[in-house]
Amino acid sequence: MDSSVPDGLARRLGIEDLAACRRLAEDREWGPEDHKWRFLFSVGDVYGIDDGNGELAATVVSTPYGKDVAAISMVLVAKRYERRGLGGRIMRHAMDKAETASLCLTATEYGRPLYERLGFRSVGLCTTYTGTVEGPSKRGVSVPVEVKDMPDVRALDTEVFGADRSQLVDGLPSFCATFHVVRDEAGVAGFGGAWWNDGRAVIGPVIAQDTKTALALVDEVVPQGPIRLDIDHRHPELIEWAERHDLRPAFSTTVMEYGAPVRNDPSRLYLPVAQALG
Ligand SMILES: CC(C)(COP(=O)(O)OP(=O)(O)OC[C@H]1O[C@@H](n2cnc3c(N)ncnc32)[C@H](O)[C@@H]1OP(=O)(O)O)[C@@H](O)C(=O)NCCC(=O)NCCS
Repeated sequence: MDSSVPDGLARRLGIEDLAACRRLAEDREWGPEDHKWRFLFSVGDVYGIDDGNGELAATVVSTPYGKDVAAISMVLVAKRYERRGLGGRIMRHAMDKAETASLCLTATEYGRPLYERLGFRSVGLCTTYTGTVEGPSKRGVSVPVEVKDMPDVRALDTEVFGADRSQLVDGLPSFCATFHVVRDEAGVAGFGGAWWNDGRAVIGPVIAQDTKTALALVDEVVPQGPIRLDIDHRHPELIEWAERHDLRPAFSTTVMEYGAPVRNDPSRLYLPVAQALG
C-alpha cells in the first residue's frame, strides 16, 4: 500500500463514511463506538482526509454549540501516517471551519502536545473510572424525563455549560438508554443520563444545582453491569462515589480550551455527555 502522506484536502464526511471512520478508530485501538459515531454525525461536522486507497487517513469531529463553543473530538490519524503532520493538518481544518468564539476538547497524552502547539490551554484534568455495578438504587428522587421538562433541561444546560447546546440536548432522551430529571418547585433541579457504548454504560450527562441532586441522579441512572464515568478532578465527591462502588481509574485526560474562555460553571457540570461533547 502507498504510504506517502495523503496530500488531499479534508472533506466533510457523511454517514456513508461511518464504516471507514470505524476502521480508522480500530486501527488506533479505539472501539467501534457505532452508537456514539452516529450521534456525532447527527449533531456535529465530521471531516476526514482520504488516503487515496479507499480508506480514511485522518478524522476530526467539530460539534458547534451556537456561536459560543465547538467541541472537538475523534482526532485520529492512521498509524501508518503518524508524526507526519496529518494531525496538525486536520485540526487546523476544523479550527478554520469553526465559527465559534471558543473550542473545547479532552486530550489524550498522544494528542496534548499537538493541541498545545495549536494554542489550546489546559483548564482541567479528568480521570476515567470503570467497573461493574449492581444497578440503580431505588431512591425515587428522579423521574424519567417528559417532553414538558425539556425547556427547563435546555435552560439549565445552557446556563451551566456556557453555550446553547439545544440540538444536542434535544437528542439526549433518545441517545441515552436512561434519561432522568429531578424536579423542584422552580422547574428542573438537575438531569442525568446513561448511554451504551460498546457494551459499557457511560454515565453522563449529569448537570445539577447541587451535589446531593447530582449523586441521586448518578445512583438512579446507573444500569446493572459495566459502567464508565469521566470524572473532572474538580468533583472529588464523584471520585468518592466511584471508589465506594469499586470502580478503578482507567486513564486520565486533559480538558483544554482555545480562544475566549468558556463561560461555564464547572461546579454544576458533574459529568459530560461524553468526552467528545463536553
Ligand atoms: C494524536 C494524533 C492524532 C496525532 O497525529 P499526527 O498525525 O501524528 O500529528 P502530527 O504529525 O501533526 O504531530 C505529531 C508530532 O509529529 C511531529 N511531526 C509532524 N510532521 C512531521 C514530519 N514531517 N517529520 C517529523 N515529525 C513530524 C510534530 O511536530 C509532532 O511532534 P510532537 O508531538 O513532539 O510535538 C495521533 O497520534 C493519533 O491518532 N493518536 C491516537 C488517537 C488519539 O489519541 N487521538 C487524540 C485524541 S485527543
